[in-house]
Amino acid sequence: MLIECKDIFKAFGNRQVLKGLDFSVEKGEILSIIGASGAGKTTLLQILGTILSPDSGKVIIDGTDVFSLNQKQLAEFRNRKIGFVFQFHHLLPEFSALENVIMPALIGKTLSVKEMKDRAKDILAELGLAGKEESRPSELSGGEQQRVAIARALINSPELILADEPTGNLDSVTKEELHNLFFKLRDTYGQTIIIVTHDPSLAERSDRILEIKDGSFV
Ligand SMILES: Nc1ncnc2c1ncn2[C@@H]1O[C@H](COP(=O)(O)OP(=O)(O)O)[C@@H](O)[C@H]1O
Ligand SMILES: [Mg+2]
Repeated sequence: MLIECKDIFKAFGNRQVLKGLDFSVEKGEILSIIGASGAGKTTLLQILGTILSPDSGKVIIDGTDVFSLNQKQLAEFRNRKIGFVFQFHHLLPEFSALENVIMPALIGKTLSVKEMKDRAKDILAELGLAGKEESRPSELSGGEQQRVAIARALINSPELILADEPTGNLDSVTKEELHNLFFKLRDTYGQTIIIVTHDPSLAERSDRILEIKDGSFV
């Protein structure tokens, strides 16, 4: 088991968004989370990503009760274990594709800069972006930008990838390619992938779908 969530509650003001979620995720599983806009999908993903604390409940990732860690330990854990892919890729516009990809490795400081760059080049090539290393995000297509964002999520070889509507603003061909990429990553590296998506074609391909409604799973 990679993740165990126990009785997760989260409110914003007097709006109770998550009302006691209990679930676990196997290593190597691809899980889709669906639900209407405002249902709490991003909130849940942020809690799983350890960037937002629940009001109560426990999140255990790879045996660690994450919210019992102090801020420094938690930042280190997150950097090492979790890769994020956001709906809007959040690439830094003034940096090249390669520089964007190595950013989490620079923060983690586990590799030399030379090793980081070599690894980033390999990942970019794997994702079909050989030759685009020096391109700025504005010089890349939407699909290419999203692949750079995925490369960035992979640079520290995280066991867990969290993706929030990663194909939300892409055309259908590019979407399909990115979906294939998630499955290839899981099949090649055994990564656990949790995807918030509105896309039925992606949800149906995943190992399991959880739907959030009125703060609970349906
Ligand atoms: N930081 C925040 N402050 C106040 N309310 C928030 C915050 N984040 C989310 N919410 C509210 O929580 C609810 C769930 O939001 P969210 O998790 O983003 O939903 P989803 O991703 O399913 O569309 C919404 O009503 C939203 O307005
Ligand atoms: Mg959302």
